[in-house]
Amino acid sequence: MNKEIFVFEGVNEIEDFIIAKWREISQEALVQKDNFTIALSGGKTPVSLYQKLARLPEMFAWDKTHIFLVDERFVPFSNVESNYRMIKESFLDQIKIPEGNIHPIHIEQGALQSAQRYEKELQQFFDVREIGIPKFDVVMLGVGQDGHVASLFVQDKVIEEKYRLVVVVKRQELKNERITLTLPVINNAKNIIFYVTGENKAAIMKEIINRQNGSLPVSLVRPLHGCRFFVLDHLAASLL
Ligand code: 6PG
Repeated sequence: MNKEIFVFEGVNEIEDFIIAKWREISQEALVQKDNFTIALSGGKTPVSLYQKLARLPEMFAWDKTHIFLVDERFVPFSNVESNYRMIKESFLDQIKIPEGNIHPIHIEQGALQSAQRYEKELQQFFDVREIGIPKFDVVMLGVGQDGHVASLFVQDKVIEEKYRLVVVVKRQELKNERITLTLPVINNAKNIIFYVTGENKAAIMKEIINRQNGSLPVSLVRPLHGCRFFVLDHLAASLL
């Protein structure tokens, strides 16, 4: 089996692996620069990982860690659908991280304004102008059963986006508009970690890993210069 794929018996082992990877990558990053940057996903899968991070308050240099979001629903932070709310409640509230190191996608009057504001924030933080692309140390992603990743869905034109860093996604099947990092940003990361569990993800993981459908958004996640890790439990890996 390919070395970018790591299969574990249970969620506990997966979480320990991801935490060790996060620690290793952040320590390496902090040798070269004065911060470590990570973009986190929403969804259900990472909730217990985030809760575990909350129980390891001394594990990371939180004062040098900058936490961004991969995507967000266009809802206020108080809404249960908010990814920021989930991440904040699961662990940010429990660790000692400076307020300025947390970079939620702020919800403005319109989704477009929110996307533009976040794009500007990324450009400023990573010190990239008009055509530059930020380079995250880590982007953490989940995978949808339909092959979506972040808020990039099958056959949505935003998966062809080449210049924007952050875009709005509107789809009939979604309750709310979404705001998401684009593929150029995701693929420019130094490390991309997919965290996927459960039997209901087995078929899509088979499609992705056997490259049966190259047009799925998740199949378009190919780091330009970085590393990609698929971290799966045995159920998600059961058809590989
Ligand atoms: C979100 C995510 C989305 C998620 C997948 C998997 O905000 O919902 O960014 O891309 O990672 O839908 O979600 P689950 O972990 O709930 O299966």
